[in-house]
Amino acid sequence: MAMEIFENKNHKIIKGDSLDALYDNIPDNSVDLMFIDPPYNIGKNFNGLKDKWATDEDYLNWCYEWIYLCIKKLKPNGSMYIMTSTQFMPYFDIFIRKRMSILSRLVWYYDSSGVQAKNYYGSMYEPILFCVKDPNNYTFNADDILVEAKTGAKRKLIDYRKNPPQVYSSEKIPGNVWEFARVRYRMDEYENHPTQKPIALLERIIKASSNVGDTVLDPFSGTFTTSFVAQQLGRKSIGIELQEDYVKIGLRRLGLATEYKGEKLQKEIRSFEKPKKQNIMSNLFEEELNGTLVYA
Ligand SMILES: C[S@@+](CC[C@H](N)C(=O)[O-])C[C@H]1O[C@@H](n2cnc3c(N)ncnc32)[C@H](O)[C@@H]1O
Repeated sequence: MAMEIFENKNHKIIKGDSLDALYDNIPDNSVDLMFIDPPYNIGKNFNGLKDKWATDEDYLNWCYEWIYLCIKKLKPNGSMYIMTSTQFMPYFDIFIRKRMSILSRLVWYYDSSGVQAKNYYGSMYEPILFCVKDPNNYTFNADDILVEAKTGAKRKLIDYRKNPPQVYSSEKIPGNVWEFARVRYRMDEYENHPTQKPIALLERIIKASSNVGDTVLDPFSGTFTTSFVAQQLGRKSIGIELQEDYVKIGLRRLGLATEYKGEKLQKEIRSFEKPKKQNIMSNLFEEELNGTLVYA
């Protein structure tokens, strides 16, 4: 399939297969930060494209090829955050730790929604590996991602070793369990995609592990959350995505185009945003009452 590229000075969208794009379009040692959120091989439906390989080995062999390439594309001081389903993460971990330093094994925790498991423990988290090429040389802007240190702040702990005694620092670097709400239908940021990641999750990652002007790459962009947040935070972005419908979301979210193949790009209107039938009926009723109702 032919690859298409849309770009302005700081942002690039590549419509095509991520392996092809990584081989042909991304120079080695050129990317500061990667966020990688591939298909999980659990049977989700990406616009008709099934996220299920014939065997686990087929899935893993496909993943190993692009993971290997992604590592080559990272700068020597670059960082990579990578996700997959809980059942495949151990394989990713073993493959990656032979090639990079895994500094944190993160858990993105969320309150469960939708169908609740009845006969086993429901799924409440997704794993993320935070890896760097060189553990002695990488970006980590701790001050930009501080969170409230709940124990110190809540219990109003005082450090009496200091003179005069001082309240314990009330901010800390987040631990490795991150709680962010999943993107739900009614949220402003919602786009029509089954596994859209929250803006807040990408904000923490991009603020911590890149600087203004750095290049952030996402080889499975989906709704282009990574590129969108990178843009908001003054970073450059490269996003790769196979599906045309999702590329259209990216073009709109990044402001790279207002039209695609003659179609005006606009956000899909959600059911609760459509005018209600009731309103139409009450308008009619009102027109009838005040004598302005006209039948053509
Ligand atoms: C888990 S989703 C990514 C969601 C994204 N992080 C977001 O916030 O919206 C994976 C995406 O990879 C895309 N994809 C699957 N196979 C691909 C391939 N070979 N090359 C490029 N993109 C692919 C799918 O269409 C899907 O949108």
